[in-house]
Amino acid sequence: MLVDTFGRVATDLRVSLTDKCNLRCAYCMPAEGLDWLPSAEALTDDEVVRVVGIAVQMGVTEVRFTGGEPLLRRGVVDIVTRVAALQPRPRISLSTNGIGLSRSASALKTAGLDRVNVSLDTLDPVRFAELTRRDRFADVVKGLEAAADAGLTPVKVNTVLMRGHNDDEAIPLLRWCLERGYSLRFIEQMPLDAQHGWDRSVMVTAAEILAMLGDEFALSPVGAEERGSAPAEEWLVDGGPGRVGVIGSVTRPFCGTCDRVRLTADGQIRNCLFAREESDLRGPMRAGATDAELAERLAAALLAKRAGHGIDDPGFLQPARPMSAIGG
Ligand code: 5AD
Ligand code: SF4
Repeated sequence: MLVDTFGRVATDLRVSLTDKCNLRCAYCMPAEGLDWLPSAEALTDDEVVRVVGIAVQMGVTEVRFTGGEPLLRRGVVDIVTRVAALQPRPRISLSTNGIGLSRSASALKTAGLDRVNVSLDTLDPVRFAELTRRDRFADVVKGLEAAADAGLTPVKVNTVLMRGHNDDEAIPLLRWCLERGYSLRFIEQMPLDAQHGWDRSVMVTAAEILAMLGDEFALSPVGAEERGSAPAEEWLVDGGPGRVGVIGSVTRPFCGTCDRVRLTADGQIRNCLFAREESDLRGPMRAGATDAELAERLAAALLAKRAGHGIDDPGFLQPARPMSAIGG
């Protein structure tokens, strides 16, 4: 079992398949992009599947592939196939910007992918191009449609609102998602951008989002027992069945029930998005470590997990690795 000193058990493994991305979202990367990881430093497909297999033996039941943009990894369908063949079979999901989905959704579904989360912050193509520095709005919409057509349910949409950029779109985005049967979740903007430009006053808080939505819709909370360790607080919209989620990562932290552990594309275990230390699995793996030795390293990495992210602590420091190289 992957357990920390506070008794939290990690059952949800997030695997970054690449730090590369074909967008440049303002809350994530500078316009010019970043220096991507040299390919020799990235885990191979075999290494990724090996680590996931060890984690599954240790009690992981959910595997989420992230990036950067995970669909930029050539082996993604093959990796999903191999992870779906593990025993016990974990549930498999993918966090993507949606651009590559129209091409790959059906192959991913066949390979064993269960669910997708697609990032979308605006319904205006011009604004999309400003926010992501790429003119790809239509591709994302096509990707979402392909995901739904392929039966990847539920199709979740993740939105980050930024004051003065897209904070007037909470209601239209929710209406748009409800009409299409997508499940929308708003995520508070976190200090994880590579350029260290996070500004608390630009972040739109969970309370503000709920106030905006409450002016237009009747929201009734979905019980805490249904929430479990999920970071999203959920509301039924106008009596349901439509729902909306709000992830108050900064103002309503859920660290106390966190069940996550992360593997970076270069084989480092991170026990928290905001961790400032990582545990290397790639080095030992390439030096011939056995599965039992890697399992021991994984367990030790988890044990050192801190109580919370500490964004509000006076001494808070952003982790050296940005979101794009950690995965969501
Ligand atoms: N704060 C909050 N969410 C972020 N994401 C990327 N960067 C940030 C940030 N700084 C989101 C993306 C995507 C998910 C993987 O993480 O929008 O939906
Ligand atoms: Fe790419 Fe996701 Fe970062 Fe946007 S948030 S630039 S889609 S990695």
